[in-house]
Amino acid sequence: MNTLEDKHIQFLKPNSIFRTISSIAGQMNQEAYVIGGFVRDQILKRSTKDIDIVTLGSGIELAEKIAKELKTSSVKVFKNFGTAMIMVNDLEIQFVGARKESYRSDSRNPIVENGTIEEDQNRRDFTINALAISLNNSTYGDFTDPFGGLSDLNNQLLKTPLNPVITFTDDPLRMMRAIRFASQLNFQIEENTFKAICENIERIKIVAQERITEELNKIILSNHPSIGFKLLEKSGLLKIIFPEFQLLKGIDVIDGKGHKDNFYHTLQVLENLLPFSKNKLWLRWAALLHDIAKPSTKRFNKKQGWTFHGHEDKGARMVPTIFRNLKLPLDDKMKYVQKLVLLHLRPISLTNSSITDSALRRLLFDAGKDLDDLMSLCKSDITSKNKEKKIKYLKRFQTVKEKLIDVEKRDKIKNWQPPIDGKEIMTTFNLKPCKEVGVLKEMIKNAILDGEIKNNYKEAKAYMIIKSKELGIHE
Ligand code: CTP
Repeated sequence: MNTLEDKHIQFLKPNSIFRTISSIAGQMNQEAYVIGGFVRDQILKRSTKDIDIVTLGSGIELAEKIAKELKTSSVKVFKNFGTAMIMVNDLEIQFVGARKESYRSDSRNPIVENGTIEEDQNRRDFTINALAISLNNSTYGDFTDPFGGLSDLNNQLLKTPLNPVITFTDDPLRMMRAIRFASQLNFQIEENTFKAICENIERIKIVAQERITEELNKIILSNHPSIGFKLLEKSGLLKIIFPEFQLLKGIDVIDGKGHKDNFYHTLQVLENLLPFSKNKLWLRWAALLHDIAKPSTKRFNKKQGWTFHGHEDKGARMVPTIFRNLKLPLDDKMKYVQKLVLLHLRPISLTNSSITDSALRRLLFDAGKDLDDLMSLCKSDITSKNKEKKIKYLKRFQTVKEKLIDVEKRDKIKNWQPPIDGKEIMTTFNLKPCKEVGVLKEMIKNAILDGEIKNNYKEAKAYMIIKSKELGIHE
């Protein structure tokens, strides 16, 4: 018995749910197998909450009988797809009849016909996802592995069971899935499989944006997102699904001076950020987008060489369009990403002479509750290969960090709101919402942050009256 086979025994324990499924399928004279991601992840010791059961017959009937046996009412039937799902504790178990599927060229929706277990395995995306384990009495626990999925798992290889062109033409989302699994598992994509991705990239256009973005987000949250982005770029998929990111790649040279390649720089920033951003999808998005406007703000002049003036501001303004195109949420998550992109240069741009309490208070106020994430992003952005420069920036970063802690302890700015708000300004001066209200509010806030007046209602009110006169507003 090889080591992988040893492992499967552990998760088919005697009184597990698999025994129940096996016994009911046996009574129905219907073959049943555990298949797909669950088998793969058990062998790789990854946690999973989804179990896929494939049966030679009706998946719905099998699920209903099992639900009855387990006395659970939570069986969900999807008649159109011929599938059913039951929840057992926190496990989601899907039942489906074995299928032989063929796809139309203009859609991902398959035409479904009943098939044998091998035909069902045939139509799956990768050999490591086509591995099945028998739940049938006489062969209980045996692997059904016609495509060498076990050996591909051992060799950390992603390979399609059929000719990859067929597998990807059948369902082009699988091209994204291949790259996603490569990023999650740190597996190689087999040569012919990758070649087929490169040759079929245009087919991704028939896939719904939401599905593409779901895979993209999984790549971003994986342990090795830069593997994924490099493969997306190399295959040609990146320029189709995320053209703004593709534009970061490349170096221009004028008068023998080149700038850094912002594609690789961004991936390095993301890698540096990984330990601080487990499950923090939006922080990782902020890292991906922090320099997104560098290509469009890039200028060269003889004195300064390459500059990217205002890329943080333009980048923040690009975020809504990118989020809209990728069908990412346009709510506070987007605003958070925008804020981090806008502020990503601020902490490190404070030089010794400009680290005043006022500048620190301003940074605390602008970053608010997202300050820690901003600081993680900012630190990760120090990627200089020049050792001296790196040490200098890290030192400066550390000084700013310590001073921020100090000022926050004293002034509690992070979750602070000025003592006078827009509503009060409008009532005092009998104003409707207008530009002047905003200007006055901003002046009061700045006066407090700059230490011009104290952070209390009395001083803020007196200041408001003086400034209102200067602005020509009367009580
Ligand atoms: N599958 C496929 N082609 C797809 C999607 C899924 O062949 N486009 C098959 C694979 O056999 C896969 C199984 O359906 O293992 C279950 O799919 P899904 O739950 O989406 O993926 P998992 O492999 O379980 O991985 P994850 O849960 O990480 O998405």
